[in-house]
Amino acid sequence: MQLLPLLLLTFLALKSEAAQILGLFQHPGKSHFDFFRPMFLALAERGHNISMYSYFPLEKPVANYTDYAFQGMPLLTDMVDLKAFETEWKPLGLPFKVPTFFMINDWALKSCEVAFESPLIVQLLESPIRYDVIILEHFVNDCMAALAHLLKAPVIALSSCAIMPWHYQRMGSPVINPIMPMNFLPYTDDMGLIDRLNNFFHFHVVNALYHLITEPATDGLISRRFGEGLPPIHEIVKNTSLMLINQYYALTGPRPYATNVVEVGGLQVGPEKLLPKHLLELIERSPNGIIYISWGSMVNANTLPSAKRKALFQSISQLNEYNFIMRWKTDNDSSQLEDKPSNLYTFDWLPQRDLLCHPQVKAFISHGGLLGTTEAVHCGVPMLITPFYGDQFLNAGAVEQRRFGIIVDFRDFDTEHITRGLRIILDKGFADNVRHSTEAFRHRPIPPLDLAVWWIEHVIQSGGAPLVQSPARHINWIVRNSIDVFFLSLGILLMFLVSLWKLTRLIGRVVAFGSKSKKQKQQ
Ligand SMILES: *[C@@H]1O[C@H](CO)[C@@H](O)[C@H](O)[C@H]1NC(C)=O
Ligand SMILES: *[C@@H]1O[C@H](CO)[C@@H](O)[C@H](O)[C@H]1NC(C)=O
Ligand SMILES: *[C@@H]1O[C@H](CO)[C@@H](O)[C@H](O)[C@H]1NC(C)=O
Repeated sequence: MQLLPLLLLTFLALKSEAAQILGLFQHPGKSHFDFFRPMFLALAERGHNISMYSYFPLEKPVANYTDYAFQGMPLLTDMVDLKAFETEWKPLGLPFKVPTFFMINDWALKSCEVAFESPLIVQLLESPIRYDVIILEHFVNDCMAALAHLLKAPVIALSSCAIMPWHYQRMGSPVINPIMPMNFLPYTDDMGLIDRLNNFFHFHVVNALYHLITEPATDGLISRRFGEGLPPIHEIVKNTSLMLINQYYALTGPRPYATNVVEVGGLQVGPEKLLPKHLLELIERSPNGIIYISWGSMVNANTLPSAKRKALFQSISQLNEYNFIMRWKTDNDSSQLEDKPSNLYTFDWLPQRDLLCHPQVKAFISHGGLLGTTEAVHCGVPMLITPFYGDQFLNAGAVEQRRFGIIVDFRDFDTEHITRGLRIILDKGFADNVRHSTEAFRHRPIPPLDLAVWWIEHVIQSGGAPLVQSPARHINWIVRNSIDVFFLSLGILLMFLVSLWKLTRLIGRVVAFGSKSKKQKQQ
């Protein structure tokens, strides 16, 4: 243990000089930014100077962190209408999620247009500050990468979800379709033939749509804003030094990432804070425990169709040995909560991380959003997940495969399924297994936030981490898949076989000729 202070001292001595760090986040998704912010707070605490352009200024300003707030996009909170997911088209009984691409592509393009019109961009381009690194988000639209290109600094990308099909090539990271489910699908790394077919279809169709639709639209926006003369966006994004992603193999499965794609899933969990008094009192009044319900910041619980609301309420009253705490932001009309059971308590907002880690919280009814899911896994709380959209199906698939919880489809969201599902995950054997698996998620050589900070500082110190840039990002599809080598080898093999065949025939003829002339001589 005497080693520890020594190690700490070396670590402090190696601490880099204060750097100028620019954050550029034009996407107004709170659940995305909640994953990014802890990294910037940690960097500010280490003395770096953060200039943050986003929709989410800090509520309480901190030293070394200056906010510049974008305006003009509605924040994506309490806006998702659950009625939209009641009927889902499943051709041949298979999930079909290509429309998700068009939805997020439209949002992303709009947020780029709005950000490009912001006076903040003018101010940023005119500012004399030279940034040591620019950190932005890789999600659906990369318009901010053009701005980063103009500001001439190494670029780091963050992803708050599993990386999208178009991110692999730009980072030079390999893809193994049969074990890598596409973001919008409910699959895991264990797929049958039909699932693999559907996965392959989704991965490559959505990837093609990105190249055919998103990239030209982005290039159009960029040339309108900054004039002609910039490289195309698909070239600019290959200049990304590092990608930090919200994945961790103990939950989301092992994947073959390139060296500069680093898993830092769970970094937002942070140290535990004391729960507010009213929640502690409620927990005290619940000797058998609490079940926590939240469908995230985007879903509007008031839009839960009434049959499903009644089913949920009925399940809650059936499990009356537990108290239920739910994030339910009431709008002007609170009639939906009139018939709520007496053991259900609703709140506009809840401290999710600290609630989940309270030992009296026994289960989590969730939508499979990645932040809540990792927090539950970190805290060892079994989940009953009803995925609605985006990557929630993928996350839910991983949770069920690793027995951190079970899935109840929205189609089946009735009293029978909910109550039975809750009984399964509340069972002692199931809960013990979750507590066991959570060890694997927590047990790491270095906490994920420290790992993220280490990599960011490494990019700064090394001027873009040149040694971990894979040349694979610059080679085309034919070379990357060794198709040329395959055909060349095939050609050589064929030539060899043909020559061998001709040679055998020649030898055969010579031998035949020889024996013929011998016979003739003998005659
Ligand atoms: C801000 O940065 C300075 C060094 O530039 C550092 O000494 C200080 O601790 C930082 N402040 C906070 C609140 O993180
Ligand atoms: C930190 O960045 C802000 C711009 O966001 C700038 O105004 C300020 O001068 C910088 N501080 C230091 C110490 O570099
Ligand atoms: C890539 O980055 C380097 C250094 O940051 C810069 O000189 C170069 O122009 C960039 N290329 C593109 C295509 O953005």
